[in-house]
Amino acid sequence: MRKPFIAGNWKMYKTAAQAVEFAEEFKKIYRPSDVRVAIAAPYTQLWALKKAFEGTGIGVAAQNMHWEDQGAFTGEVSAPMLKEIGVDYVIIGHSERREYFGETDDTVNRKVKKALASGILPILCCGESLKIREAGKEKLFVEGQIRADFDGIPAEDAVKITVAYEPIWAIGTGKTATPAQAQEMCAFIRDVLAGIYGEDVSEEIAIQYGGSVKPSNASELMDQVDIDGALVGGASLKPADFLEIVHF
Ligand code: 13P
Repeated sequence: MRKPFIAGNWKMYKTAAQAVEFAEEFKKIYRPSDVRVAIAAPYTQLWALKKAFEGTGIGVAAQNMHWEDQGAFTGEVSAPMLKEIGVDYVIIGHSERREYFGETDDTVNRKVKKALASGILPILCCGESLKIREAGKEKLFVEGQIRADFDGIPAEDAVKITVAYEPIWAIGTGKTATPAQAQEMCAFIRDVLAGIYGEDVSEEIAIQYGGSVKPSNASELMDQVDIDGALVGGASLKPADFLEIVHF
């Protein structure tokens, strides 16, 4: 049974003090349920957030990491550094990192493998641009991403990965994919995974939808059989909005 998983992605928003303020407010209104919850925050907030969420069951995620444990890589942060402060998850291959910071399927694959080897659960992002969708090539494109990003990852590790399907045209645009569009792509991703690992394994892998998820559309998206959760950007910045999504 796949458990619903709602994660907030704060992107480059909030200072450490503002993150703690969010956590304190959120804890007052949050009631644990069978929904897995996490917040992906900038590095400077992770330590403080981890402490603030102690005992709540709410996970903390980084938004990126390097594939080496250490080295001369100015400006980078590694898996052991994240693990030491108790980081539970790491987003890998977000479209903003692919688009603005040269992330490729090769670096995504290396990072996913390192996260798994380090005991940090990856949230692996994929999704097509508007141009690709308009050309009718979204399935071909996303299949290519999934095959390359999962390359060389054995089934026992693959089940620890959460895939986040985030069509780029729906991110930060207010233009959510319809539940049918999101379901179609998440089901397709599960089929691709079934082709690689077999159906039993693909049925265990959690697939989130991301792209303008908000309190008003969360429940109809979550009702879809192959959508197991959401990766929420803008609407995760306010405790009350995020809570409504968590309680979809
Ligand atoms: P928005 O929810 O702001 O569209 O962002 C989605 C996203 O990129 C989450 O990773």
